[in-house]
Amino acid sequence: MRAIYPGSFDPITLGHLDIIERGCRLFEHVIVAVLQNPNKSPLFTVEERIKLIRTSLPHVPNVSVTSFGGLTVNFAHQQASQVILRGLRVLSDFEMELQMALTNKTLAEDIETVFLAASNEYSFLSSSVVKEVARFGGSVNHLVPTHVAEEIYSRCCAPKPPEPLTSINPEPIQGSKLLKE
Ligand code: PNS
Repeated sequence: MRAIYPGSFDPITLGHLDIIERGCRLFEHVIVAVLQNPNKSPLFTVEERIKLIRTSLPHVPNVSVTSFGGLTVNFAHQQASQVILRGLRVLSDFEMELQMALTNKTLAEDIETVFLAASNEYSFLSSSVVKEVARFGGSVNHLVPTHVAEEIYSRCCAPKPPEPLTSINPEPIQGSKLLKE
């Protein structure tokens, strides 16, 4: 059985890779499908994201990476795939994921969504978190593959050493001053 694993992957994280590797053990073939979404302004183009994903998976034989536009269920039909694979992290993912799975079911009765629970160590991890950390100069080496981290640093900023904590202003706050301001 073939599965598609759709997503934005802007950029791919260690959490995505964990889902892909585990999905590849369950399914004959997994197609990682990057959504072409003109409504978003991504950090990486679709072509760059595909390249970053491919470079992350040389050790996985039964995976392919491509892009798609439009409805995921239509893409699944085109690829002769009966399964949409998604990762579930925290409880807050569940509402949106269930809504997507149920919507997809109304569009294509023959396609099933299969959820894999994110591994514990990646249950907090998202592409947005990675971009936020990098934007403020934090290290993302433990969150994405090395070549992805290098690409992020080349467009955001390289990690900075932590700044020493500045001392708190010792001047006491006057109660009346506080009320007036
Ligand atoms: O990585 P993401 O951004 O959580 O992935 C979301 C994605 C691409 C799976 C979802 O937005 C999607 O399937 N978009 C394609 C449009 C579609 O099929 N919508 C119907 C389901 S609500």
